[in-house]
Amino acid sequence: MRFLRKVVMITGASGGIGQALAKGFAREGATIALVGRNKERTEEIARRTGAVYHSTLEITKSENCKKIIDDVFNLTGSLDVLVNNAGAMFRGDVVDTPDDEWLKLFDINVHAVFYLSREAIRLMREHKIAGNIVQVASNSALSGRKGHIAYATTKGAVVQMTRCMALDCASDGIRINAVCPGATDTAMPMSKHSAPISRERLLENCRQSIPLQRIADPEEVVRSILFLASEDSSYVTGTTLSVDGGTTA
Ligand SMILES: NC(=O)c1ccc[n+]([C@@H]2O[C@H](COP(=O)([O-])OP(=O)(O)OC[C@H]3O[C@@H](n4cnc5c(N)ncnc54)[C@H](OP(=O)(O)O)[C@@H]3O)[C@@H](O)[C@H]2O)c1
Repeated sequence: MRFLRKVVMITGASGGIGQALAKGFAREGATIALVGRNKERTEEIARRTGAVYHSTLEITKSENCKKIIDDVFNLTGSLDVLVNNAGAMFRGDVVDTPDDEWLKLFDINVHAVFYLSREAIRLMREHKIAGNIVQVASNSALSGRKGHIAYATTKGAVVQMTRCMALDCASDGIRINAVCPGATDTAMPMSKHSAPISRERLLENCRQSIPLQRIADPEEVVRSILFLASEDSSYVTGTTLSVDGGTTA
């Protein structure tokens, strides 16, 4: 029960890792607030985890991010942890990446993370909350990724944003870190934006190419986020934790 009486907000709650995060934090006693895009899936996970708040407002808009953060605070009286997990992928090399896809990826993978973090930090500072933010980046942030220039560039930006925010906020007692997952068993690595292959093929590729010889279970990514968001990592800020079965090693 590491998050008893802690208010935890999670974005991308309608997706694979987001749903596992909602269950993981709920299991550890957190009061949870969820933000998703798909209404049905967001409502369902909110119902199943007893979330006190859920929203499907578009988080790529700065004013919506402010409203969501304010609403959660006004409802619960705090905001202790923010997990920026929502994200999207686009498949295309440098010439095959059109403006709209490039901008769309920056909107969700970078701008939404910045807007929500900024509003959360503003509020944490104002109310002297020793809060915590975890950004869900990717191991694509840590080395080049052929055919995924927009995704790798945006996730690289998240890692650098994490370092800068951590330095800006260290004296406030607010810690900010990023996790960098590798292939994780959700819809994302099988989508047309990643590699449109069957699940069997994906699992076989992971067996052959990942040092630990398998894909990650979303629960394994969640455990790394619970660690970074909890007092177990009380002296850790501004870092990136690879959760990729040894791929970047
Ligand atoms: N799975 C992997 O192999 C892997 C590896 C490294 C990093 N990651 C990162 O892990 C995070 C979670 O991914 P996942 O694996 O759980 O994938 P997922 O199942 O596809 O979930 C992605 C989540 O992000 C939301 N989202 C996407 N675009 C959005 C937008 N424009 N506005 C608002 N919400 C948006 C989705 O909403 P809807 O579903 O409601 O549309 C969904 O809730 C992402 O940041 C991803 O980049 C995943």
